[in-house]
Formats: sequence, structure tokens, C-alpha cells
Amino acid sequence: MQTTFKIRRFTPADLDRVMHINQTCLPENYSSSFFTDLYERFPHTFIVAEENGQIVGYAMCRIERGIIGLAKKGHLISIAVLPEHRRQGIGYALMLEVMQAMLLYEATECFLEVRVSNTPAIDLYKKLGFRITQTKKSYY
Ligand code: COA
Repeated sequence: MQTTFKIRRFTPADLDRVMHINQTCLPENYSSSFFTDLYERFPHTFIVAEENGQIVGYAMCRIERGIIGLAKKGHLISIAVLPEHRRQGIGYALMLEVMQAMLLYEATECFLEVRVSNTPAIDLYKKLGFRITQTKKSYY
């Protein structure tokens, strides 16, 4: 299958579409101000994927400081690709872009939370080199 998606930074005009994708794909939904706040604070790591002029996926992050020391870490807050656009490399491309963009904030480490049952996402993160450091009960 040939795909022609484009990866670019989020702009405020994308908000409704990104919220729609979030609500379609994930049980963790956020207010518009939550998305806007993340964008205003960390614009480089709020990324969308566009296919035929329509946004079909997004990934967004927060940059956080570790408890010890000053090291900055990128925290992946949310990523989703619309079901009909999955398995075409979009999720992988979004993650690569986000991790690259974290360097602009001097964050050289990235972490995230994922349900133990979410095999597609876990496989995606493993493919990118993530490793499991902790399993928390009742996190979600
Ligand atoms: N089963 C197993 N592995 C899968 C998978 C599936 N259904 N979908 C993706 N993967 C893994 C594979 O390792 C794949 O590499 P491969 O194609 O070489 O096998 C890799 O992820 C990259 O796949 P890609 O096509 O880039 O992913 P995607 O565009 O389909 O997006 C998600 C992956 C997780 C973003 C997408 O499934 C999604 O939006 N899920 C719902 C939202 C969600 O769960 N977000 C994560 C919350 S932590």
C-alpha cells in the first residue's frame, strides 16, 4: 500500500480535529485548554500527521524535570492515529518527530505510560527502543 502522509507541527487551527481524534481513539480525553496549554508551553513537541490535507493523527508531550538533578525528560502525554489510517507507519513517524523535537528542549530521555493490554502501542514503543521500567496497578 502506498501512503503519502505529512508530519508537521500542530497549529491552533488543528485543535478541533485533534480533539476529535483523541475522543475517537482514547478513553483519556482532555479539555481544549489542556491541549492549548501544552501547545503554548511546548510547541515543538506537539506534532500532527496529515493525509490528503486532513489530520489523521497527533502526538503531544510535556517536558519535565527529574526529581534528582536538572535533567529534562520528555513525557509523551498522548498519541493516536485514526483507525482507518493505522499500520502505515504514521504512529512511528509521529514518535520519531516528537523524540527529535524533545532535543530542542534539551530533553534526552523520553517516558510514557501505557496500559499493559495495549499491544499495538507497546509494540510501537518497543520498536522505538523503549523499555518497561515499572508496572503500576490501577494507574488508569
Ligand atoms: N499490533 C501489533 N503491533 C502494532 C500494531 C498492532 N495492531 N499497530 C502498530 N504496531 C507496532 C508494530 O511494531 C509496528 O511496526 P511494524 O508495522 O513494522 O510491525 C509499529 O507499531 C509501528 O506501526 P505504525 O503503523 O507506525 O503505528 P500506527 O500508525 O498504527 O499507530 C498507535 C499506532 C498505537 C498510535 C495506534 O494503534 C493508535 O492510535 N491506537 C489508539 C490510541 C493509543 O492506544 N495510543 C497510545 C496510548 S499509550
